[in-house]
Amino acid sequence: METRIAEIADGIYRLSTFVPEVNAPAGFTFNQFLIRGEQPMLFHLGHRRMFASIAAAIAKIVPVETLRFIAYSHVEADESGALNEWLAAAPHAEVVHTPVGCAIWLGDQAIRPPRKVADNEAVDLGGKRVRFLATPHLPHGWDAQLCFEETTGTLFCSDLFGHGGDGPALVETDVLSLGIASESHSHAMSLTPTAAPTLRRLAALQPKKLALMHGSSYAGDAVGTLNGFADHCAAALA
Ligand SMILES: [Fe+2]
Ligand SMILES: [Fe+2]
Repeated sequence: METRIAEIADGIYRLSTFVPEVNAPAGFTFNQFLIRGEQPMLFHLGHRRMFASIAAAIAKIVPVETLRFIAYSHVEADESGALNEWLAAAPHAEVVHTPVGCAIWLGDQAIRPPRKVADNEAVDLGGKRVRFLATPHLPHGWDAQLCFEETTGTLFCSDLFGHGGDGPALVETDVLSLGIASESHSHAMSLTPTAAPTLRRLAALQPKKLALMHGSSYAGDAVGTLNGFADHCAAALA
């Protein structure tokens, strides 16, 4: 198992582990993102079985024990599986989540108390600034949150626009149709009446890049991509 590193924006590192057996024959990537501020933050905690590989990749960028914040979108093995491995490896790290996230799972499971953030609360990492957005049921899970790094305009999208294969770390080619195609196949999203307005709220942040948990990250018309997916979700419910 190998975790590859690519800097997709200034100080934003994609840590990508490709698993050929998932979604065979194309395979599937599981990506974490390291935000290198004075206080580094990791978004997506990965499966427990990938922890050693991801930690070795992070150690090439910053010492693992200097991680100050860790976070994930929603409870799921790829998002939150290695929660306590990170808390053990980085003794000053706090896991950050919404009141719902802390109440329904995290407060019970984490070996240290989580840090609760309000919807739209920004956390200053020193040189980087991360805004936490409560997005219940988007992409799925009552506890879902996403986050936005303001200095680079990078929106961390979790499973949104996820797609298979092992493409480049960052593309400018269309990820909206790839995301819609894989959603039409997997039905992994929670398609609720709040999906489209939540996607439009994300578009209003005017992101420049979309950091995807599965597949290539995107640098292009991120606003149009989010609004296009909102249109798709609204039409699917009509
Ligand atoms: Fe998920
Ligand atoms: Fe995922």
